[in-house]
Amino acid sequence: MRKTTSFMIVGVLALAGASLYGQTKKGASGGDVAKGKGVFDQNCAVCHNADSAEVKMGPGLKGISKKPKMTEASIKTKIDVGGNGMPSYKDILTDPEKTNVLAYLKTL
Ligand code: HEC
Repeated sequence: MRKTTSFMIVGVLALAGASLYGQTKKGASGGDVAKGKGVFDQNCAVCHNADSAEVKMGPGLKGISKKPKMTEASIKTKIDVGGNGMPSYKDILTDPEKTNVLAYLKTL
């Protein structure tokens, strides 16, 4: 029974990995998830949890892309403009870095 469960988990993870890979390859915004994680760890992780929705300085970002209000465009704007305690990253991150971090956020 235990074994079956862990096999299923591995299967689900493999599927998730495969679809992520597909996204990185041909996602419309074309961001690199692995590089985006690096950008996130350096710039955002001090204030945002990536693995839970729990508030740190800012809201936890797990499941962020599933929030109805958070479209790709509105997340982009938030990164550029900041506000309410969040710094503006307009001139701090390059466009590719923003695209990559966005791709990473979509996987959370
Ligand atoms: C100094 C702390 C801080 C840093 C660093 C920071 N943020 Fe934020 N962030 C916040 C706060 C505070 C909010 C809530 C602002 C609000 O309510 O409008 C927020 C909100 C957000 C939101 C909207 C979340 C929601 O559910 O409404 C996103 C997306 C986001 N940040 C992404 C990022 C990304 C990506 C980075 C790194 C490039 C980053 N943040 C860096 C503090 C920070």
